[in-house]
Amino acid sequence: MNTKALTEAISALEYPGLSRTIGDLKLISSVKVTDGNANIELLTVSDDSYLTVKTAIEAAFSHELKSLNITKKAQVSKDTNYGTTATPNNRAPYAANVIAITSGKGGVGKSTVSVNLAIALAQLGYKVGLLDADVYGPNVPRLTNTDLEKITWNDDNKIVPSENYGIKIMSVALTTPTSDTPLVWRSSVAVSALIQFLEDVEWGELDFMVIDMPPGTGDIQLTMAQELPITAGVIVTTPQLVASDDVSRAIRMFQDIHVPMAGLVENMSYFIAPDTKNRYDIFGTGGGERLCERYNLKLLGQIPIDMDIREGSDNGEPPVALGNETQKKYYQDIVQKMLGEIEFKI
Ligand SMILES: Nc1ncnc2c1ncn2[C@@H]1O[C@H](COP(=O)(O)OP(=O)(O)OP(=O)(O)O)[C@@H](O)[C@H]1O
Ligand SMILES: [Mg+2]
Repeated sequence: MNTKALTEAISALEYPGLSRTIGDLKLISSVKVTDGNANIELLTVSDDSYLTVKTAIEAAFSHELKSLNITKKAQVSKDTNYGTTATPNNRAPYAANVIAITSGKGGVGKSTVSVNLAIALAQLGYKVGLLDADVYGPNVPRLTNTDLEKITWNDDNKIVPSENYGIKIMSVALTTPTSDTPLVWRSSVAVSALIQFLEDVEWGELDFMVIDMPPGTGDIQLTMAQELPITAGVIVTTPQLVASDDVSRAIRMFQDIHVPMAGLVENMSYFIAPDTKNRYDIFGTGGGERLCERYNLKLLGQIPIDMDIREGSDNGEPPVALGNETQKKYYQDIVQKMLGEIEFKI
């Protein structure tokens, strides 16, 4: 096998679990075959996906070559070579709009924001689905009080999503026997599970599919952008993280792969003392605005740290549905701003 033949054969190889080829995903940096010895350099966004692709190439071609040396090009986030997201697949043709909610960091309130924005959209009369794309730390079911539910199949062999607060919900947590069952999946398996959730769940016609992303800027984020035309990206951050590289990476990843940005939500932005009602800007003010200026984003809203928000959320009582008027308004106002920022198909 010469260099050209091997390059073509690897390009045509399917990425395990995805119906996309390694060539489509632009994961090859270089291939060289000399006297039957092949040197292959891969461009992959994570160690998991490097191992997945390496194993697939070895399985397919090791018997045709004297040696096969597969290495990984040091690349990742900062070079922002995220492949062909310009013409993504559409695994969710039933959804008129897809909103992806992300942040570079964990624990900033992505899931809380996703749940409450999805419900706020449903309160406006839209049909809304919420996909928990956090396969390793799924907590949408707990936040929506659906954690005791388990998935069922309908007569067409489609998965029936859970429903509460007027939205349809799907999460891997609904497929595991208990909510603390750990998932020890390779990222390629996680990615296939999510694709199944897009394709094999009976979502019905949706005005909005809201996706709660896992923390980080890895395979899941990339795959979602390649498998779905994302109508709008929303970044969630906290004031102490506005200057962090992780948040900038999350913004740049979306911008680099041309996801239209609805804007940024600054969560846990300030604190209102429950007794005196005094406002404390624990982390200073203006961080969210400065970040928005830097990346040309709209500041969609600032949500304070509020004990009721935490308690309600963690008890499966979303503030936008069951909180007081002030709490509801935080999320409803964000939705109004978001609807004004992007031309949604509604
Ligand atoms: N505005 C808020 N005020 C008080 N607590 C909040 C607020 N927003 C979120 N929380 C709480 O912070 C914790 C983390 O929130 P959440 O799970 O939404 O974050 P996340 O970014 O999705 O985390 P992960 O990265 O683990 O998925 C939860 O206990 C949640 O109830
Ligand atoms: Mg989360």
